[in-house]
Amino acid sequence: AHQWQGVVAEYAERLPEHVRASVVTLGEGGTPLVPAPALSRRTGADVWVKVEGMNPTGSFKDRGMTAAISAAAGRGAKAVVCASTGNTSASAAAYATRAGMTCAVLVPDGKIAMGKLSQAIAHGARLLQVDGNFDDCLVAARKLAEAYPVELVNSVNPDRIEGQKTAAFEVVDALGEAPDIHALPVGNAGNITAYWKGYREYAGFDAGAALPAVATRTPQMWGFQAAGAAPIVLGHPVTDPETVATAIRIGNPASWQQAEEARDTSGGVIESVTDEQILAAHRILSSEVGVFVEPASAAGVAGVLARAERGLVPAGARVVITVTGHGLKDPAWALRTADGGEVEPTRVGADVMSIAAALDLA
Ligand code: F0G
Repeated sequence: AHQWQGVVAEYAERLPEHVRASVVTLGEGGTPLVPAPALSRRTGADVWVKVEGMNPTGSFKDRGMTAAISAAAGRGAKAVVCASTGNTSASAAAYATRAGMTCAVLVPDGKIAMGKLSQAIAHGARLLQVDGNFDDCLVAARKLAEAYPVELVNSVNPDRIEGQKTAAFEVVDALGEAPDIHALPVGNAGNITAYWKGYREYAGFDAGAALPAVATRTPQMWGFQAAGAAPIVLGHPVTDPETVATAIRIGNPASWQQAEEARDTSGGVIESVTDEQILAAHRILSSEVGVFVEPASAAGVAGVLARAERGLVPAGARVVITVTGHGLKDPAWALRTADGGEVEPTRVGADVMSIAAALDLA
């Protein structure tokens, strides 16, 4: 019987040697690519969602973290550090524990979802709530890693990108070819960088090789930022980013330039979506597609729906949308109604008659 071995082993020949030497894995990757008829119907395209919440710690970060922690283990590292809006810290904490390393995480004070905070604590991370936003945390983490014996495992670490590019391989393996369009949320911009690298490499373009003006055999990359945290769209850093999608509440993405390059060489776009659009997409994903995600993860879906409304999604195009993190990370949003109220469970007695009546069966 075959058991999925994790992304480093499964795609070993496409990953650098130093990542493969001392593999630390929790079996990440191999996530479902699920057809989304409800989204196809709404857009006139052929829409699929890549469900990254199915990774061991509930987000796509695990793909990059297995690579980064494996490389660090190979070098004999004892400690790692990251800045995080939550998912990176949950992932780093789990993989560091697995490798017997200590893990320090810097998170913005008060703006991280409870599920993610719990994970970092449960896995034994040294968690510091920093008086500042994600961008401040990342600056501090970089300086800490320069001055002290701790390795940085944010996506500015190239091993993270190597691991995360495997998601593009999986999409191509599942569909038999690249989709026409790949859409995803953009925060610190590591993931759009990683997918584009993966698609290019699978299409036979070497890392540095020139591409045709607009590449064929690779998808258009469509990235979506939250409107209150959309520096790439605005063309300047945002000093006070704000959005319900706390995972992408980032004002100065580290991989900004790489994201623009992915957009331009793929013939794609980077646009913004409002919190209302994000929450509407979140609701459609749970109630019509059957996939529960955290708010930030719905940004790609929100963006594709918004472009479809403007007539910008070609009929019949094959569209893959990455939904990046699990709904249980930040479940409170599901208990809010569209008009901002609270969902209250209906209370009934334990007798069948009352239950049947409450269900409109009687
Ligand atoms: N979706 C989720 C659920 C995320 O956690 C993140 C990033 C993104 C999308 C955006 O990905 O940064 O590669 O553009 N979360 C980071 C973190 C910043 O610290 O967990 P990106």
